[in-house]
Amino acid sequence: MVHRPHEVSDFQEDIHVVSNADGEAIGVIAIHSTALGPAAGGCRFWHYDSHADLTADAIRLARGMSYKNAVAGLPLGGGKAVLQRPAGSFNRAALFRAFGDAVESLGGAYVTAEDVGTAVSDMERVRERTRYVAGLDAEPGKSGGDPSPWTARGVFEAMQAAARFALGSNLDGLTVAVQGTGNVGAALCRMLRAAGARLVIADVDRRRVDALVAELGARAVGVDEILAADADILAPCALGGVLSSRTIPSLKARLICGAANNQLETEADGKALAARGIVYAPDYVVNAGGIINVSAEYLGEAPEAVERRIAEIAPRLTAILESAAREHIPANTVADTLARRIIARGQRAAA
Ligand code: NAI
Repeated sequence: MVHRPHEVSDFQEDIHVVSNADGEAIGVIAIHSTALGPAAGGCRFWHYDSHADLTADAIRLARGMSYKNAVAGLPLGGGKAVLQRPAGSFNRAALFRAFGDAVESLGGAYVTAEDVGTAVSDMERVRERTRYVAGLDAEPGKSGGDPSPWTARGVFEAMQAAARFALGSNLDGLTVAVQGTGNVGAALCRMLRAAGARLVIADVDRRRVDALVAELGARAVGVDEILAADADILAPCALGGVLSSRTIPSLKARLICGAANNQLETEADGKALAARGIVYAPDYVVNAGGIINVSAEYLGEAPEAVERRIAEIAPRLTAILESAAREHIPANTVADTLARRIIARGQRAAA
């Protein structure tokens, strides 16, 4: 495994190339910060056009994890693994064992778990090679398992609080457009429906959409229509970079609150949203439920600790939105400033 330092905006980073048994590069592990503890963040398994694109995504995601973990009050730094999904057939177990070897070689500096494209079964293969992995099936009375339901719960509670703040309403009767109905998106849809919200949904995987239309009476729209759908709230729950100068002008929702990491293409897009009067719930503030569960599993904490920390997400978001409104600063900037302050405090304490 090659190791080379890499400069990323505000921190000095490490990028570790993950290789398979034949020595071919299959992805990277990006470590953004270990100031508050081991760099923790899931493993994404996705197709990228180039190794450079994959690496850039890993770096962005790792920084998001640092900020997310800091703001959530977890004793963890930030990191992320991104593996290239092979185009043809491949040996999935061997691939995740090779990834486990790479995680092990970092000696605990990075702790992995699931992310887009990976499942509990993949983390079990990783566990064969390293103990620096979470997101495995929970033992009775202990935290663990698929983090997605916890992420969905945090996003849902955050959305309730943000709707009260931005729209002066509970979710009953509001229309929520959900982009991406995978693990988190589908769980979120079920909670929203139970709370009386109307659903507009889209996913590149038509079977997922059809299943939720049948189960929840959701209205399906095309993947090109979902961002600008006629809705009160937009919940991006697919991939990052969906809020940009290309998409923001046509948004109809007055509130954005979803699970996807790195929803803003650039920091300036947060300003553009604020200028349009659209309230943006910073992604890493609201989607911390999964890493909270992963953290509890890794640290051996009881499920009550997960409940307690997830219950803090909604009031934390409200405080950030209030501060943004009071100081006329975009909410993403308020959150970033808070995260950097917490990480800097950790760096000073470690020095
Ligand atoms: P997933 O892979 O289960 O679901 C993602 C869904 O988005 C898939 O159904 C996929 O077909 C769909 N999708 C991809 N591109 C799309 C497009 N252009 N338009 C519409 N749909 C599209 O992933 P999961 O776990 O539900 O995560 C969703 C997002 O939330 C990701 O950005 C992930 O990084 C983020 N997240 C997930 C956490 C978790 O606990 N799983 C924790 C925190 C963040």
